[in-house]
This record gives sequence, C-alpha cells and structure tokens, in this order.
Amino acid sequence: MSKKVIEIAGARPNFVKIASIARAMGRSRVLEPLLVHTGQHYDEAMSRVFFDELGIPRPDINLEVGSASHAVQTAEIMKRFEEVVVRERPDLVLVVGDVNSTIACALVSVKLGVPVAHVEAGLRSFDRTMPEEINRVLTDAISSFLLTSEPSAEVNLRREGIPPERIFFVGNCMIDTLLEHRDRAARSAVLGDLGIAAKGYALVTLHRPSNVDDASTFAGILRALAEIAGRLPVVFPVHPRTRKKAAAFGLADLLERAPGLRVLDPIGYLDFLCLTANARIVLTDSGGIQEETTVLGVPCLTLRRNTERPVTVEEGTNRLVGPDPRAILREAARILDGEVPRGWIPALWDGKAADRIIAILEERL
Ligand code: UD1
Repeated sequence: MSKKVIEIAGARPNFVKIASIARAMGRSRVLEPLLVHTGQHYDEAMSRVFFDELGIPRPDINLEVGSASHAVQTAEIMKRFEEVVVRERPDLVLVVGDVNSTIACALVSVKLGVPVAHVEAGLRSFDRTMPEEINRVLTDAISSFLLTSEPSAEVNLRREGIPPERIFFVGNCMIDTLLEHRDRAARSAVLGDLGIAAKGYALVTLHRPSNVDDASTFAGILRALAEIAGRLPVVFPVHPRTRKKAAAFGLADLLERAPGLRVLDPIGYLDFLCLTANARIVLTDSGGIQEETTVLGVPCLTLRRNTERPVTVEEGTNRLVGPDPRAILREAARILDGEVPRGWIPALWDGKAADRIIAILEERL
C-alpha cells in the first residue's frame, strides 16, 4: 500500500535540500509525495529560480504566506497548513532545516496525529537568541524520525533525551544537490560576466539578525569588507533583509560605494555554486555555505561566534571568526597571504543522503 508523504519547502535553503529528497522520493514505489511550498520565500530570485535550476517538481500546494513577524508568519503557516493536513490525511510530514516553515508544519502535523520526519535534525548552536535554534530544538522534540547530517547531532539529541531508535545518521542532502549539479555549475558564465578570475576574488553572504539587525555590528563588518576589497574584488550577493537593514541604518553608501565591493541582487543556485567553488576565500554567516565550502575545499570564515555545524570546523575548511572587524581582517589576511586550511569531506557527505532517507521511510512507514 502506498504511503502519502507531504514534503515541506519554505525558504531558500530548504529548496536545495528538498531537491535531492524530492528526486529520490520520485523513484520510490511506496511513497507518494505531495510537495507543499509555504511561500515564506516568494521572490523570483529567492524561490522560483531554485525550482527551475534544480528540477524540483512544481509545488502541489502553495500556502503563499509571505513575510511577516515571526509570530504572524509562523501562525499563518500553521493556519493554512492545518487545512491541508486535514484534507490530505498524509501518513507522514517531512520537514527540513530550521526555518519558521519547519517548526510551523511540524507542530501542526503532530497535533493532528501525523508523524514528522526532520531532515538535518540535532544541529545545535547553543545560542537561543538565534530564531533557528528555537526552531531546531522544538522540531526535534516532536519529530518521530530524526535524520542527521553529522555526528554532533546524535550527541545533542541523546543529551536532550531523544530515544536512540528515532535517530538515523543519513548524511547531508544539501551536499547531494551540490555533487549532482557541480559540473553544470562549472559551466556558468558568472565569472566572465563579473570580470573576475578563478581564485581572484572573495565571496560574501550576510543575513543573520545578529549581524545585520544591529547598526554598529553591521557597519563594522561592512568596513572590514571594504578594506578586504582593497586587496581583491569582493563579490556580495545581498539578501533582501540585509539590503533593507542597510537602508534603514543609513549604511547604503558603505554597502554600495566601497571600491572593489561588488554588490549584487540574490543570485541563482548554479551561479552561486560556481562563485563558491572558485572563490579564494568565502566570508559568510549562512549555515549551508559552511558545509558547501567544506566539500569544495574552499577556505571559509564564518562571521558568527558559534556554529551548529561543528564538523565543518573540525574536519572541514571552516573557521569561526565572529563579527569583530579586527578578527575578520586578521583571519582574512592569513588566508590571502597564503595559508591553506586543510580538511576532508565528512562521513556520508557522499551524494546518497536522500536515498538513505527514502530507504528508512519506506522500511518504517
Ligand atoms: C530565513 C530563515 C533563515 C535562513 C534564511 C535564508 C527563519 C526564522 N529564518 O531568514 O534561517 O537562513 O531564511 O534565506 O525562518 N524577503 C524578501 N523576499 C523573499 C523573502 C524574504 O524580500 O522572497 C525579505 C522580507 O523583507 C522579509 C525578510 O526578507 O521580511 C526576511 O524574510 P524571512 O523569511 O522572515 O527570514 P529570512 O531572513 O529570509
């Protein structure tokens, strides 16, 4: 008998993970997928381009919630998703990552008696000022299948009293997508279009509230980036919330006018992967990019005080630098002066995580 599984995708990093899961589930003879897009991210560049480039099936349902405060966004997803679960009566709801869509849909499901599978379970920054940390802890507490991407996750889940039989180390399905599309990304024309050479530029992303919601922290980071841009071009695709904060804090000039700082609108997956693979150094506060640089062997400075992905520091090319401009400049100089961080690819980041997830669900449902 087939089993109906609702897959949830809401925000940009979710799409990259759902791409490999939806593909693997499409091959299953047992699982019958229904793809729900919550609409948390909705701009062409934040959403549709990922579906197109990664061949993600068109969502069966779009809840079209859009942006709002955390409470309103989460509540609106819950209201709209409850109707879907009541109508569709799925056997399982699968959520990925740590965004508001993740906790909202997990909570609706368990209250209606539908088990939840959480992909990327158990990651912990131990920083409860991060909205994602709250989403992770709560989603894990109510999920039936905790599918983990690195060893630290199981340690964290066991400490929180999750029964070991619910925890499955499956590997990293964001890396499945990277490995599958790496060759296509290598053919991107983005370097030529920007007039930059492989290993001749830095790549930056920034959007965490801890970095861009505080004017002096944000200004300090921008000044550090402007200084690095004196040494080599700095390519910076800007998240919409970062651009809004820059305008609100009167930092738009610092962002737009620094010589050598190449500010872009958000870009698609393939161009971004090409930029990451060829960067001399990456500076970021994203979670997923810490993992992608580890697989690509590209030096990464994480502009945060903590990471929920410690394997990228212990085994990969990632270094935690925090938001202090002096620390950013010091660590960037070490890399630009020739230091090469060595690392290796973590266990089970081998392109087969989604297959393992599907095999577990087929067996257990
Ligand atoms: C969300 C996730 C974060 C993830 C990030 C990746 C939560 C709590 N946070 O943060 O973990 O790293 O996505 O991008 O779920 N906006 C647009 N167009 C869009 C989407 C958003 O302009 O398509 C703007 C809006 O001004 C919105 C703001 O970005 O208010 C924030 O969007 P939101 O979805 O609330 O959170 P992100 O900061 O994107």
